[in-house]
Amino acid sequence: MSRTLVAPSVLASDFANLQREITMINESQADWIHVDIMDGVFVPNLSMGIPVVEAIKRHAKKPLDVHLMIVEPGRYVETFKKAGADNISVHVEACPHLHRNIEQIKALGCKAGVAINPHTSLRELENVIGDLELICVMSVNPGFGGQKFIEHTYEKVRQLKKMIVDANSKALIEIDGGVNMQNAKLLVEAGADVLVAGNFVFSASDPKSVISQLKTI
Ligand code: DX5
Ligand code: ZN
Repeated sequence: MSRTLVAPSVLASDFANLQREITMINESQADWIHVDIMDGVFVPNLSMGIPVVEAIKRHAKKPLDVHLMIVEPGRYVETFKKAGADNISVHVEACPHLHRNIEQIKALGCKAGVAINPHTSLRELENVIGDLELICVMSVNPGFGGQKFIEHTYEKVRQLKKMIVDANSKALIEIDGGVNMQNAKLLVEAGADVLVAGNFVFSASDPKSVISQLKTI
């Protein structure tokens, strides 16, 4: 039995049938529900807001993995916790006071995550790695679903895995962007613990079976 966690990203789901999509995830082997929040400033796109997160939470039977692609996310972490977030990830590039933000998230009782853009060096995580429970490695530039996977991610994941082991950190490595059956196995071999998948799941004719396939890697 695989220990890889799978988190379908609702950004790629049918928003007009969100309850049906959440029910599909509930009935699948997915572990978390990945929820992308974009502010049009940190990333050049807008996605969904707090009422949508609350609506997802009303139907979800799996933890909500909330990925905040917003500037100064510390202003909103409590609001997202109240809306139903179980995990909250903030971007290292958006947080001049990253350590404070991680403490804030933990104090709310959420799993604390940090997301890191493709161009950002892992050195940025050096001083907080022991405090983290989740590290979201962006394998595309954040802002849009359905983009092409960046190949450099494999090497970054290998290096990050080593950093985590050396620091005796319990952080899980999550991969976000362009995940599919071709790269999933290599990502897990490189050290990935959690696979986020948007288009690969929701554009499939049988999304539950795609989720099961990702689980069996
Ligand atoms: C990108 C988002 C991703 C996105 C992944 O900014 O953070 O979570 O939904 O979608 P796919 O799997 O389609 O690349
Ligand atoms: Zn995401």
